[in-house]
Amino acid sequence: MARDKVVLAYSGGLDTSVAVKWINETYGLDVIAYTCDLGQGQDIQAIRDKALRTGAVEAIAEDVRNLFVDYFAFPSLMAGALYEGKYPLATALGRPLIAQLMVRVAKEYGAVAVAHGCTGKGNDQVRFDVTFQTLAPELKIIAPVREWKWTRTQELEYAAKHGIEVEATKKSIFSTDQNLWGRSIEAGILEDPWVEPPPETFQWTVDPRNAPNEPEEVEIVFDRGRPVALNGTDMDGTTLIEELNKIAGKHGVGRIDHIENRLVGIKSREIYEAPAAIVLHEAHREVEFLTLAKNALRFKTLVSQEYADLIYNGLWFSSLHQDLMAFVVSNQQYVSGTARVKLFKGHAMIVGRKSEHSLYRHELATYEEGDQYDSSAAQGFIKIHGLSQTTQAKHQMLKGPGGAGRPELPSIIPPAPESK
Ligand code: ARG
Repeated sequence: MARDKVVLAYSGGLDTSVAVKWINETYGLDVIAYTCDLGQGQDIQAIRDKALRTGAVEAIAEDVRNLFVDYFAFPSLMAGALYEGKYPLATALGRPLIAQLMVRVAKEYGAVAVAHGCTGKGNDQVRFDVTFQTLAPELKIIAPVREWKWTRTQELEYAAKHGIEVEATKKSIFSTDQNLWGRSIEAGILEDPWVEPPPETFQWTVDPRNAPNEPEEVEIVFDRGRPVALNGTDMDGTTLIEELNKIAGKHGVGRIDHIENRLVGIKSREIYEAPAAIVLHEAHREVEFLTLAKNALRFKTLVSQEYADLIYNGLWFSSLHQDLMAFVVSNQQYVSGTARVKLFKGHAMIVGRKSEHSLYRHELATYEEGDQYDSSAAQGFIKIHGLSQTTQAKHQMLKGPGGAGRPELPSIIPPAPESK
């Protein structure tokens, strides 16, 4: 009789390969391996073949880069989502999509469970589990690595005993995850926050010291917050990100070193490489500076932070996200335009921006001919603007001894300079 099935998020690495066998033995389930291409730069067909050799009864590999860009990466860009102001959220954005696709496969195949290879210490287990519980509460969740609690040696012994392929090449000294939006690197020597990441940490960005001695300029066009063209050529999001990762990476742009607050209560040291994401966030923000009204721009920073937190915390499929997205789309209505960014030795510098919806009005800003700003109105405005402060100074702070009697507080009024 056919056994019940489980859909396993399969990366082709040691953990998930061992998991195929371990789930067979421990839970008596047949494994359907699920692998998708989010732009991590791996041959997913080769991974699929490996899954079948490793004992999966079925293996699915699909290219979902466009879904990832259109529904996850670009919306997060429009929202300005940088976790703790630094991390563009590559890994965090990939998880809900993978989990959702796995649920779809599980339903198609009538599987009774889903499984992933996350440890019990990270954020990724939360993102997977919460998404599964939200979209398919009837599915059992199996997390082999969290459950077996082996040392690496024990895991290798298990692999040897069951004839599971272990790559001949030395395993990376780091734990990494990557997709189009960025590369996440942690563990090993990076666990010491004082240690500068060694050269082998990086794969997408050159050491800024070895970057070209000539700067390179890129021009990015946005349409209602979405990037639509690079250097004068219209392109789909996936191509645009892939191109920009190469160009910016060549100039050493996109390295991030972050002591980050995990959802599970731990502070951890994470290194990221996100050349395209960093340049796009800079460029996008710049078009916002030109096109968003002052109060909209300020309010947006609050939304950005909330949005980043909910992505990081695995709450993609929440109603708050739906609500914030409605705000973001509305807020991005006039965020169409072009930013010019100069890439040079690890830096991405904005050097120009334009938009047909620009709120930068030359006729208001200019000191030259054609000025339409009413300077005479400024005097009255300044009086009213400063009234609260001038009143307070007159009746309290500057009243002299007796009036300004808080000597225990540091003074904001500097003393007269000492004369020689
Ligand atoms: N700290 C990041 C996050 O929680 C990245 C985790 C990626 N995993 C890894 N094996 N490096 O989104």
